[in-house]
Amino acid sequence: MTHVSPARKQSEKALYGGTSSRRVTVRDIAAAKERGEKWPMLTAYDAMTASVFDQAGIPVLLVGDSMGNCHLGYESTVPVTMDEMALLSAAVVRGTRRALVVGDLPFGSYQEGPVQALRNATRLVKEAGVGAVKLEGGERSAHQIELLVQSGIPVMAHIGLTPQSVNAYGGYPVQGRGEEAAQQLLRDAKAVQDAGAFAVVLELVPAELAAEVTRSLHIPTVGIGAGPDCDGQVLVWTDMAGMTDGRVPRFVKSYARLREGLGDAARAFAEDVVGGAYPAEEHSFH
Ligand code: KIV
Repeated sequence: MTHVSPARKQSEKALYGGTSSRRVTVRDIAAAKERGEKWPMLTAYDAMTASVFDQAGIPVLLVGDSMGNCHLGYESTVPVTMDEMALLSAAVVRGTRRALVVGDLPFGSYQEGPVQALRNATRLVKEAGVGAVKLEGGERSAHQIELLVQSGIPVMAHIGLTPQSVNAYGGYPVQGRGEEAAQQLLRDAKAVQDAGAFAVVLELVPAELAAEVTRSLHIPTVGIGAGPDCDGQVLVWTDMAGMTDGRVPRFVKSYARLREGLGDAARAFAEDVVGGAYPAEEHSFH
């Protein structure tokens, strides 16, 4: 059962807090934009965590290539493969009943062109069962988006900071600063909308620019480090729940201290084992 506080309840149709138990579709996302409704999105990389978020009512779960840093121990998203993405996307789909699951196309799986993008996106839809895919790039990825959409695969675009280009950026700098960069971001947003994307992630862009993009598009924007005026907001779940080791970006708000709690639990278990307190009589069979 999804628990939503009465104060947060919006309408029966609301993406978050609504009463429908069927799986969320891209039409529901479009309708939310028309209603001017804000909605949350989280990443997920396994069935168990996905089921927690699904039961909490999160309407869209992204199997992000952030699994590279957050789940698979890589230094960036760049090494993530299609096999890894297909495996973990299938797990997230199995762990959910309501959320729209979006599978990320990893670096190298769509840059060659529309046909490569279609082959790999089709794999995520058929093998893993995702309801949509995400890929990075604005104008530069428009042809890929067009073919996927024409082929019946909903696409979430991703512009602003595109982490798969970390080697080209030399880090993770804020995007869209200055008139020329802002104009490029607006062109990118328009290009992905015209190509048929059903939503667009805006990562690490000034809040005022994200607000302008959100006003100028009829598809929803999903912000991450893009201020309060986007239609949706996404966070990497390990950042949101305080599971990340070390520093998190300034735009992150952590809503729990899971890393600390899990470490405490592991230490308590270890001390019980070493001291002989576990297993006790009630944990034993005779
Ligand atoms: O891979 C990911 O988690 C993402 C989000 C940050 C949008 O692309």
